Amino acid sequence: MEKEGFSSRAGAIAAAAGSAVGLGNIWRFPYVLGQNGGAAFLLVYVLFMLLIALPVLMSEFAIGRKAGLPVLDAFKSLAPGKKWYLIGFSGVLCAFVISSFYQVVSGWTLFYTYMSATGQLSSLSEQEVETMFQHTASDPVICVIWMLVMLGITGFVVARGVDKGIEQYSKILMPVLLVLIVVVCVRSVSLDGAAEGISFLLSPDFSKLTPSALFEALGQAFFSLSIGMGTMTTYGSYISKKQNLSSSAMSVAMIDFFIAFLAGLMIFPCAFAFGINPGQGPGLVFVTLPNIFNQMPMGQLISVAFFFLLVVAALTSSISLLEVVVTFIRSSFGFKRKKATFISAACVAFFGVACSLSSTVFDLFDKVSANILLPLGAFFIVLFIPYELGKKRVCEEFEAHGGKFKLFGVYYFLTKYIVPVAILFIFAYGIYGWING
Ligand code: PFF
Repeated sequence: MEKEGFSSRAGAIAAAAGSAVGLGNIWRFPYVLGQNGGAAFLLVYVLFMLLIALPVLMSEFAIGRKAGLPVLDAFKSLAPGKKWYLIGFSGVLCAFVISSFYQVVSGWTLFYTYMSATGQLSSLSEQEVETMFQHTASDPVICVIWMLVMLGITGFVVARGVDKGIEQYSKILMPVLLVLIVVVCVRSVSLDGAAEGISFLLSPDFSKLTPSALFEALGQAFFSLSIGMGTMTTYGSYISKKQNLSSSAMSVAMIDFFIAFLAGLMIFPCAFAFGINPGQGPGLVFVTLPNIFNQMPMGQLISVAFFFLLVVAALTSSISLLEVVVTFIRSSFGFKRKKATFISAACVAFFGVACSLSSTVFDLFDKVSANILLPLGAFFIVLFIPYELGKKRVCEEFEAHGGKFKLFGVYYFLTKYIVPVAILFIFAYGIYGWING
């Protein structure tokens, strides 16, 4: 398999940010936050991002770049003859599971782009906006067709290869999305009745912090950063040795968090202003946003641009998911990129149809991947750092660009002691919470 890289140094970081920023920030974060009580969840989320998810992201980058190989081969080459490479297999499984429901939500987003472009979302009443989403999510034809279109586009980009495909898309359009989110936020917080939504997001009520809220916050942090399944390990292998690894990881995490936070600031004031239940689940963004657009000058144009850019954000993330599977098939069976892409997309299509047709399968895939598979993967990835690579080799990798990683001691302490214990603890606590309802 020929080695592929990014044409510019910043390309690898832009692509990693492109993988991280996606529906996880704009669709999943608000709905999970809404179901788990708001501000207290946000606080825990920030804490988990800093103390757990960021060290995992740094570890994945370090492992990938040290080996210079995609996840499965990275573990094989850094720990020959040992079982660590199994992390790569669980990552491939996870990529399948996430891709399946992710493509369905991407499909809804594309459908909403089409609906706003043709004026069918304009001037709907709040009730009609809600009915529109229920109709979208429960119509098998809409779900399957738009999911397949998105999968087709994803497959097309992946088949063209990493340097020509991903890089071009992620660099230009993501800043435009950011600007648009800010514009929509401004409108949302200035709606009548927005204050209640702002306080939902910003004044914590700790009595709402159930065990399963902690569990959900951890899963969401991993999902949002694309960690715990080797995606970022593979991206790490594309990062040049001259690049500062720790600050790259910090930039990706900061961008990712900032966009999720803005998404919250966009959704909740509007949800409260229109009397929409913030805890209603996966439909939240779709029943909220059209109402703000209807209250904005040039609302239809903004709506089309917004949903279109969300499609692009979803695309850069789904590309990274499909890439995991394609890389696996290529290195295991020696297939060419195009053939491997076709086979992977066909398998995802199969599970994607299952998620389109059954909300139970959809919810199961959503919860199992973020809350179970990713934390487990992350647990083993961080253990690899102290227990297989060791302090000296890891530190060398972080300082390979010639600078000093001043917080290395803190990072190493976190990965060796805090992160694995915290993951296990939150995991056990969450499962306990789940079982006890
Ligand atoms: N991080 C992506 C998002 O927030 O939308 C989702 C994702 C992409 C998760 C790639 C995992 C992954 F490997």
